[in-house]
Amino acid sequence: MKINLRIWRQRNQAEKGHLVQYTLDGVSGDMSFLEMLDLLNEQLTATGEDPVAFDSDCREGICGQCGVVINGVPHGGQGVAQPVRTTTCQLHMRSFADGSTITIEPWKAAAFPVLRDLVVDRSALDRIIEAGGYISVNTGAAPDAHAVQINKKRSDRAFDAATCIGCGACVAACPNGSAMLFTSAKITHLAMLPQGQPERVLRVKSMVAQEDAEGFGGCTNIGECAAVCPKGIPLESISQLNRDLIASLFKHDGKED
Ligand code: SF4
Ligand code: FES
Repeated sequence: MKINLRIWRQRNQAEKGHLVQYTLDGVSGDMSFLEMLDLLNEQLTATGEDPVAFDSDCREGICGQCGVVINGVPHGGQGVAQPVRTTTCQLHMRSFADGSTITIEPWKAAAFPVLRDLVVDRSALDRIIEAGGYISVNTGAAPDAHAVQINKKRSDRAFDAATCIGCGACVAACPNGSAMLFTSAKITHLAMLPQGQPERVLRVKSMVAQEDAEGFGGCTNIGECAAVCPKGIPLESISQLNRDLIASLFKHDGKED
C-alpha cells in the first residue's frame, strides 16, 4: 500500500508546530499503525531527517502509553454506527484504503502540553490518581478469597471501571478538555468495593479538586469521551462520580475542620 501522511511536527513545547507531508510506500495491511510509523522513521533516519517522536510501550492495548489523533479521532479506529474499541497500537493499516491520506496529530488539550511531535505530557493524570491517596487495608497474611463477599453487580462494575488504561483519549476528544471520564473510572473502581469505603468521601473531593487544579475543563455531558474510549468506560461512571461528590458535601471526610 501507498499512504500519504500529514504529521504534526513540533520541535519542543516552546516552538509552534505544523503539519508535514510524507508519502510512504510498502505499507502492509498487517502492520499496526505504530509499525507503519516505525517504517516511516526508518526511512527518515536513513535520509538524515529527525524521526517522528511518538509514545508507545506494550503495543498490546493495555498500558495506555500510545495515542494520537487520527483523521480527527483519538485512537482513530472508532466507527460511528458500531464503535471499534481500539488503542492506536492495536489499529491496523488494513483499516485504511491504498492511497489514502491520514492526518496524525497529538492529543490537544490545555492540560496536555505537547513535548515533541506526537508526544504530550500526560502526567496530570498521574497527579489525579496520586490525589486519590491510599486505601485502608489490614496487612498480614492474605485472607481467604471469599472472606469479603461482594455483590456480583458491584464487582463487575468495579472490574469494568478498572479497565481504564489512562490513555487520555477521553480528554483529547472532549471539546472542554475534561478528564471526567478518566477520574470517574478511578472513583467508580474503588467506590464499588468494600476496600474503597473508608476514604471514599475524601478521595472524590481530592481527585476532583486536583483535576480542576491541572486545568482540565468541566463536563457538559457531550459524550465524545465515551465514544472514543478504547476500553468502553461508560458515561454512567461520571454519574457515579457526581453522586459521590454530592454525597461528600453531607459527609465528614475525616479531616479536622
Ligand atoms: S476513560 Fe477510556 S479514554 Fe479515558 S483514559 Fe481511561 S481508557 Fe483512556
Ligand atoms: S502501546 Fe500500550 S496501549 Fe498502546
